[in-house]
Amino acid sequence: MKSAFIHLASRHTSLVIKNDGRMPEVMYWGKRLPDETDLAPLGMTLSRPIPGGRIDSDTALSLCPELATGLFTSPGLEGSRNGSCWAPSFMVVDAEITPQSVTFTCRDKIAELSLVIDITLDEESDVCQSRLRLHNDGQTEYQLQRLSQTLPVKAQARELMYFHGRWTHEFQTKRMNLEQGAFTQENRRGRTSHERFPAIVAGQTGFSETHGELYGFHLGWSGSHRIHAEVMSDGRRFVQAGELLMPGEMTIMPGESYETPVLYSCYSPDGLNGMSQRFHRYVRQNIVHFDHQAKPRPVHLNTWEGIYFDHDPDYILQMAETAADLGVERFIIDDGWFRGRNHDRAGLGDWFLDQSKYPQGLQAIVECVKQQGMEFGLWFEPEMVNPDSDLYRSHPDWVLKTEGYEQVTVRNQYVLNLQKPEVFDYLYGCMNSLLSEYDIRYIKWDMNRELVQGTHDQHAANHGHVKAFYRLIDQLRKAHPQLEIETCSGGGGRIDYQVLSRTHRFWASDCNDPIERQSIQKGASYFFPLEVTGAHIGAGHCHTTGRTHSDGFRGMTALFGHMGVELDPVKATEQEKATMKKYISLHKSLRTLLHTGEHFRCDTDHQDTQAWGVISCDKKQAVVMFTQIALAEYALAAPLIIPGLDDGLNYRVTLLENSSGDLYMKQLPLWMEEPTIVNGALLAQAGLMMPAIQPESAILIKLEAV
Ligand code: DGJ
Repeated sequence: MKSAFIHLASRHTSLVIKNDGRMPEVMYWGKRLPDETDLAPLGMTLSRPIPGGRIDSDTALSLCPELATGLFTSPGLEGSRNGSCWAPSFMVVDAEITPQSVTFTCRDKIAELSLVIDITLDEESDVCQSRLRLHNDGQTEYQLQRLSQTLPVKAQARELMYFHGRWTHEFQTKRMNLEQGAFTQENRRGRTSHERFPAIVAGQTGFSETHGELYGFHLGWSGSHRIHAEVMSDGRRFVQAGELLMPGEMTIMPGESYETPVLYSCYSPDGLNGMSQRFHRYVRQNIVHFDHQAKPRPVHLNTWEGIYFDHDPDYILQMAETAADLGVERFIIDDGWFRGRNHDRAGLGDWFLDQSKYPQGLQAIVECVKQQGMEFGLWFEPEMVNPDSDLYRSHPDWVLKTEGYEQVTVRNQYVLNLQKPEVFDYLYGCMNSLLSEYDIRYIKWDMNRELVQGTHDQHAANHGHVKAFYRLIDQLRKAHPQLEIETCSGGGGRIDYQVLSRTHRFWASDCNDPIERQSIQKGASYFFPLEVTGAHIGAGHCHTTGRTHSDGFRGMTALFGHMGVELDPVKATEQEKATMKKYISLHKSLRTLLHTGEHFRCDTDHQDTQAWGVISCDKKQAVVMFTQIALAEYALAAPLIIPGLDDGLNYRVTLLENSSGDLYMKQLPLWMEEPTIVNGALLAQAGLMMPAIQPESAILIKLEAV
């Protein structure tokens, strides 16, 4: 071991880790330190005093806090060998260091355990990517309850932002102050979940989109998780995250290992925008790999809310033709195409084309879609089976359950046990055969229920199910490298960086109500860039809220994402079609900017308004959408502060679009009537006056450097 302090540095961030032979501890995580900084004095300047009335030695808040050192916080590792070895204590035996990463190998000879800690600070994005691996060096089984990663945050990080949600209401952000004790979020649903997106932000009190020091964390795992933020009695603070294991679920056999999901984290000195821009950059460079010049993200039409289970090939052809005329580039047949699927009570598991609905097969539709210049896509829900299906009748034992107990149904369906090789092979076989027979370029991979009391091989099946799901996608993508996949789980119930690394976008919500979409898409934008966030124009009368919205407002809200249409275009009025066409074409004209630029959210003066935008990487062009969510509290909104512009550039400001046609005002802000050029610093400091627009409407502003 060469040095006592390891300095990982990226563009704007430094992470300094103490490496004195004990379990490593982060001593500093913040703004980048000068390269030549001598870290040795840290041993003096940050040496902790040992007050009276407590343990006589210092207790490190390490990357895996140990009960053995007398640290009474939530430990990083919980497990035992039938009761013994329950409080291990590790020594570092090796540290491999590069400028961007470090891998520590730690060992406890008595407990016969090795722990490998991998940390990489991504040079470009400043995102820290870390994971732990616990290896059983002994001769007996090690029962693991929990292996979590732990990272300290500054003492000033007293406010938490976390995510809450439910079906049709995903990614809702909530705030709380944490002064004492802990906040723990646990998700036991076996999928990423609508309810508890695996992320948390800890920052200075009152941190906003543009201000405040903060730390963001996201666990890349599509199963159950636990995220914990704690204040120790001495005031030190940390965030801990890991997979949530069911009782007895994980036994590490002699010579075997358990690896945690990857924890993605970052430090931002400049509020939530700084955080999400770092995460977006990381995603674009390491998780999804699009060539936007060669293949822009195609505009979708998804049949679900247009026809549900009512499939008539002639009508679907008409839908495809109308969609193409609107400017749609990918046509997806959703649920309802396979045997017996006339409602949501039957058919799942029987992945064969329903000959009674499609007597001529699917070929003619696929060909027609292609002739119209669109790609063809198809919906699957591979992990599920309805009791009313041929698959279930032949193989009732393929379902995840616990022998002797009745398994609950959710949406009339059970989960299949993908860990059984015969189930895995059946699903791969069905999907591979359809993907080989037809030119299917895209599948929507849905998952409409949680895992409940699922057992495989005498143990809870949750961890193994997630791994088998990943394997199934990996195998299909290997066989069909051109295939793109959307991850969906009744909307946004299964999206995280791990599933995203295997897919190309996610369906953010089953709610297409643009008012709801404003907060759902805003919440998703903290961790996901626009090009992976499915955003569709739904029907005027929203199916999940019963509310009605103007064509313009629906179009405007769907602009900021991977755009699509989710209604029956054949039944749309001429007016509605013209509006959809207009917004699709507007989206295409802005698509490169939206899908490659830097996304930001504005701090507005009241929650009845919301604003976000995207600026190109060279800072020369930007679009900003200002939305009036509810009736304005004040007759005048405060000037909109537009962050992220270049202080040295002058911008021409124009109104690009407004969702409600006429703007009924005696006098508009003058920039809307006369050509106006203004310096970036002025827009970022003094702001831009907004018109007084009606609730449930939005305007789009264009900024071009001159
Ligand atoms: C739930 C999805 O979120 C919807 O978009 C749709 O695909 C339905 N399932 C189909 O059953």
